[in-house]
Parts: sequence; structure tokens; C-alpha cells
Amino acid sequence: MLPIEKQTVQWQEKDTEYQAVWLSQNNYAPPSRIVIVDDTTTADEAYRLANAGASMLWRGDYHNAKQLLQALNRRIERSEQRKVSKRSANQTLPSTPQDLPNLFHQQRQAQSQRARLLSRLLIELDADYKSVLRRAPDVSEACTLAFGKINDKESDEAIVLSFRDLQGALGAAQWRKKGVKIDELGLSIYPHYGVFAPTRHEYVQLLLDAPLPASHNLAYDIGTGTGLLSIILAQRGFKHIIATDINPQALACAQDNFERLALSAITLQQTDLFPTDAPLANLIVCNPPWLPAKASSPLDYAVYDPNSAMLRGVLNGAKQHLAEQGEVWLILSDLAKRLQLRTREALLGWFEKAGLTVKYRLDTTPTHSRSQDSDDPLFAARSREITSLWCLV
Ligand SMILES: C[S@@+](CC[C@H](N)C(=O)[O-])C[C@H]1O[C@@H](n2cnc3c(N)ncnc32)[C@H](O)[C@@H]1O
Repeated sequence: MLPIEKQTVQWQEKDTEYQAVWLSQNNYAPPSRIVIVDDTTTADEAYRLANAGASMLWRGDYHNAKQLLQALNRRIERSEQRKVSKRSANQTLPSTPQDLPNLFHQQRQAQSQRARLLSRLLIELDADYKSVLRRAPDVSEACTLAFGKINDKESDEAIVLSFRDLQGALGAAQWRKKGVKIDELGLSIYPHYGVFAPTRHEYVQLLLDAPLPASHNLAYDIGTGTGLLSIILAQRGFKHIIATDINPQALACAQDNFERLALSAITLQQTDLFPTDAPLANLIVCNPPWLPAKASSPLDYAVYDPNSAMLRGVLNGAKQHLAEQGEVWLILSDLAKRLQLRTREALLGWFEKAGLTVKYRLDTTPTHSRSQDSDDPLFAARSREITSLWCLV
């Protein structure tokens, strides 16, 4: 992915001024204060620097940087635990269900603070994403896949990014190579960097079980991500599918998956919600981000839907895009309801306001690891989560 506007970062090292292209998956601004760190820097020192707002450009051994990042993470975790214990010691009443929205927001805040602190450890790569650090692996292919070519032919500017984003790119390259097995379909899906990976795909069976609408000429897949829902609809016999997403990385990823499966009946459009200049659809499928909360990175927009804007947008626009006897299959987890971020009444009210009625609903319970993690402060809500396919007409 190319940044919309090429940003640069400056720093001083041994009395010389340096400049490089700045890359940040979370769209963080280029750091204004950079200190040089290496193998002699202790984890406590790095933790203190990060908390003081300094970013640290790593000049030591590549693997030692990985260890330093882990050590930083442990210190942040300990500090978070201390804060939680202090808060519960100050509480006179035991936690009540009313605390859930608060708990959720606190947890997100802690995650974002942790991401910020960990992103302060930086690495410099050359214009071809090569690292000169001792014992550094070849990261150029993974970075090119994740971030695209940053420099044009005339420019050979160095690139600075957080070590954490680099690790993200390396992890994503592995996913893209190995794929995510979708047993229900007997195939694998290959997620790209910055695209929602269907690692929790309990809803696939719902899409396989739902009775097809009377006519299956055309379906829209709104927010296609890796293209998974379009692939299911193609397997189920839809003649043509138009898949949309606002994230260009998602469209490239979906295209890759369709090509791997030699599916030619699917057209892609980068757009907000509904395709433009398209005939009316017999079916609209959508698995919107399931939690109404603030989003910042492209990946956040796959999980968090600020003010339920995407969900409401799909519902409100459905009627005008549906052919006669057309249906909407809305995939929605009830976690937002369980965390008291959205009521069931509000959801049903939005259906009604959009002129849609519930024809039937299919339910399933997630089996992903977070729903089983009893140490998660939100376990009470997560362990009871139900994912539904709402058929709306
Ligand atoms: C939860 S993911 C679902 C991905 C895929 N359909 C699946 O089920 O695996 C939601 C997707 O919606 C996309 N999205 C978010 N807002 C959107 C909008 N306004 N218009 C189109 N796509 C959007 C995100 O980029 C993301 O790919």
C-alpha cells in the first residue's frame, strides 16, 4: 500500500542530519524525537524512553531488537495489570454488567496505548526494503507485498518504520503463503496484509445452510475483504456477483483469491457500500464490522464500525438495490449487544426503518480462541456471543 502522501522523518546521528520516508500502518505521524539505540540499551531504558515520547532507531543486532520488543511488551503488560489492580482496589462495589461498555473502552484504550509504545522502536531499511542490521533476514519481499514500492526509479531514499509494523508485514506474508483453511468449503483463503483474515469463520456454515432466494442471477457482496462470501455464493450457483470494499488492499486480495480459484463470475468495485451502475440484486450479503467503535487503521475498519455507519448504510440502501423477491443476508455477531454498545431494539428498529422484515434467522456460536479465554476481562460477554445470519426481505 502506498501512503497517500509520502511523509518523511528526520533525525540526527553522529552530528549528521538524516532523512527517510516514513511508513506507518496505523497512520501515526512521523516521530519528532528520535534517539539511537543498540544492543547496549536495556529494556528498562527503552521502556522509559518510549514512555517519555521518544522513538528509538535500532542500530544493533536484528534478533536483539525482537527481544527488546518482547521485553517492552512485558513491561507494558505489568504496568497495565498494576493499573487494573489499583482500579479494582478503589472500587467499593464488585463489577456489575453496567461496567461492560466501560471495560471495553478501557481495554481498547490500553491496546492503543500499548500499540503506540511498541511502535516507538524503529528500523531503517534501504530503498529496496533491505536491512543492513546484523543477522537481519531478507524482509524485502514481505515489505513489498505489504507496502508496495515506495520509491520510484529516480529516488533511493531510505525507509523508516516501526519494528512492529515490520513484524506485521512478515506475519502477513506467511498467512498469504500458507492461507487459512476453510474446512466447510474444502479450500483455503489467502489473506493479504491489512485485510480482515477469516480466521473465525463460523458464519460460513450459515451461508451454506441458508435457502437460496427464488432467483440467483446477481448478488452483491458488500465489504468483501478476502472475497470469502463471494466465493461461497459462486459455489452455491450465483451467476454473477459484484463485490465491493473501501479498502484497496481488500480488493487486491479478493482478486487474488478469485484468480486462484479460477472464478470469473465475480466483479470487483472499490466503493463505499453499494456498487454503482449495477442492475438490481437478488441477494445482498454483508458481514459488517461487528462493534460500533472508533476505527483508525484500514484493518480497524474491518472490526469497528463507527456509529454503526456501515451497518445502517447497508440496511438503509438495501431496498432500493434489491430486485423483486430479493433478500438481504446480514451476518452479525451479537457481541455489541452483550457489551451494551448497541441494543437489540435499536437493531430491530433499524430493520423496520429501512422497510425490511425478518424472514428467518440462523444462529451459530463462535469457537475462536478469544471466546474461550477466561482471562479476558470481557469473557462474560465473549463466551456467550452468538453470530447470526439475518434473512431480511
Ligand atoms: C468484517 S470484514 C468482512 C470481510 C468479508 N466479507 C468476510 O466475511 O470475511 C468487513 C469488511 O467491510 C469493509 N468495509 C468497511 N466499511 C466499508 C464501506 N463503507 N463500504 C465497503 N466496505 C467496507 C472492510 O474493509 C472489511 O473488508
